[in-house]
Amino acid sequence: MTQTNHPGEIANEERRTVGYRSEASLSKQLYQRAEMVMPGGNSRHSIVLEPYPVYASHGRGSRIVDVEGQERIDFLNNFTSLILGHADAQVTNAVQKQLELGTAFTLPTQVDVELAELLVERVPYIDQIRFCNSGSEAVMMAVKAARAFTGRSKIAKFEGAYHGIYDYVQVSEGPTSDNWGDPEAPESVVESSVSPTVAAEVVVLPWNNFNACRELIQQHKDELSAIIVDPLPTGIGMIAPLHGFIEFLRELTERHGILLISDEVLTFRLSYHGAMSEFGVEPDLTVLGKIIGGGFPVGAVAGRRDVMSVFDQRGSFKVHHGGTFNANPVTMTAGLETMKQMTPDAFDRLGRMGDYIRERIAQTLGERGIPVKVCGKGSLFIAHLTDEELVDFRSLKGYSRTNPAYGELCHEMLSRGIITSPRGIFGCLSTPMTEAELDGFVEALDQSLTAVAG
Ligand SMILES: Cc1ncc(COP(=O)(O)O)c(C=O)c1O
Repeated sequence: MTQTNHPGEIANEERRTVGYRSEASLSKQLYQRAEMVMPGGNSRHSIVLEPYPVYASHGRGSRIVDVEGQERIDFLNNFTSLILGHADAQVTNAVQKQLELGTAFTLPTQVDVELAELLVERVPYIDQIRFCNSGSEAVMMAVKAARAFTGRSKIAKFEGAYHGIYDYVQVSEGPTSDNWGDPEAPESVVESSVSPTVAAEVVVLPWNNFNACRELIQQHKDELSAIIVDPLPTGIGMIAPLHGFIEFLRELTERHGILLISDEVLTFRLSYHGAMSEFGVEPDLTVLGKIIGGGFPVGAVAGRRDVMSVFDQRGSFKVHHGGTFNANPVTMTAGLETMKQMTPDAFDRLGRMGDYIRERIAQTLGERGIPVKVCGKGSLFIAHLTDEELVDFRSLKGYSRTNPAYGELCHEMLSRGIITSPRGIFGCLSTPMTEAELDGFVEALDQSLTAVAG
């Protein structure tokens, strides 16, 4: 028997014979305990898997070992945030050194300046940046900055797009045909936890619809502070913007004095120079998160110097921004060590691997006669099991965050050694992955789809 040093680390070798779905599994026992002390047994709805999830013990590189001792290839990477995979040696060593030096001070540190400098230097449309602890917080700060800068209160967002858990961007995150209204002028749909006054402050735009967007923006031009856009929105199934759509949004916003906020919390992993640089577009504000924290909680609001000046306490100071753990040196160290390793070559290699897996999924499923549209770019992919044209949120008919078939598929993938999303055929790559592991994903997907269909 091995001794357990940390809670969650595998307790003994015998567990290696017990799968997570067995009655005696530690995952099941942990979930039963979790249900007693956490509503729904979790702190994060995006990882819910019925009847219970697999509990992790530890990870290294592209792999995670669960509490029963089974190793799997991780295609989620903590929902895209771990671009170097798990427990990268360089990041871990740097963080360990920082832990010994102290984890958080009410004083700034050098590493906070260094990560800011690295990001400002890489991304042409970022002059200045401020750190916080999550993408949601960063989105909130960007929206507040836009209101303060423009003196207008409304924002516009795209139907179905996910931007975190700030009330104003949770509008029409997952509307249904019962409530989404006119396709040319979608309703602002909020859940009961959000005040209806919030809905009135948000204009909902249909993705890829030039005419409707022009019309809606024109109609609200004097009230809109910003349009927030994710250049490859996961909530809209990573349906790519139509040719010229992002440029069109830039042109429209500029014309009406509306700020363009690029939400790159997830899509910053697409490009060394930032996701918007691919379109040659310069947003006014950019929101970052995930990979820039190197595995630790992080967010950042960044952008043009004059817009960012709303945070400057020495000037006309309009947006108060506090946060006990903002820019803490542990996160900053992990982020800096990660971003240093993400050279242009590293991004290129991930992009080629992404092309490979997207092509293989399309080809393998195509050969079996399964209708599929594979979306995504760089290190990101989503496979939609449809042959219908995908243009916007409403065209994702078979795609639902709550479709139980994806949970079943996820279990099938887990049983074949692959960690993927319980809410769709969604995945992302990390630098330690090999081509053989990508092939492993495609084979497991092929077999799992057959098993679910059966
Ligand atoms: C595009 C986008 N914006 C914002 C967020 C919120 O980030 P966080 O989960 O760090 O609050 C996410 C999270 O997945 C995201 O994908």
